[in-house]
Amino acid sequence: TYVVTDNCIRCKYMDCVEVCPVDCFYEGENMLVIHPDECIDCGVCEPECPAEAIKPDTDSGLESWVKLNGDYAKSWPNITIKRDPPPDAKEMDGVEGKLEKYFS
Ligand code: SF4
Ligand code: F3S
Repeated sequence: TYVVTDNCIRCKYMDCVEVCPVDCFYEGENMLVIHPDECIDCGVCEPECPAEAIKPDTDSGLESWVKLNGDYAKSWPNITIKRDPPPDAKEMDGVEGKLEKYFS
């Protein structure tokens, strides 16, 4: 399965939801997550994310993100239609430590 990681927070470009064949993205206030039981591992979303926030869960060091995606996918609403990203998405791209500072 694939997971959404730190750099999605406050960038939230939503290009990913447009390409996912099984609509398995779920939306929080500042980021999206992927439902691990619904993702079919097609990999189509990974290159579409302008923030390079989507990674295969086999990448090293992603354990906390695997858990976060799985946990929040159960309670956040499904999202299938892209909207405008936050107005400061560009400025937020690459900011360090977004989970601690901005996650909600
Ligand atoms: Fe959807 Fe494929 Fe990305 Fe999984 S890897 S979230 S199925 S686009
Ligand atoms: Fe986030 Fe990238 Fe999708 S920034 S909303 S994972 S396109």
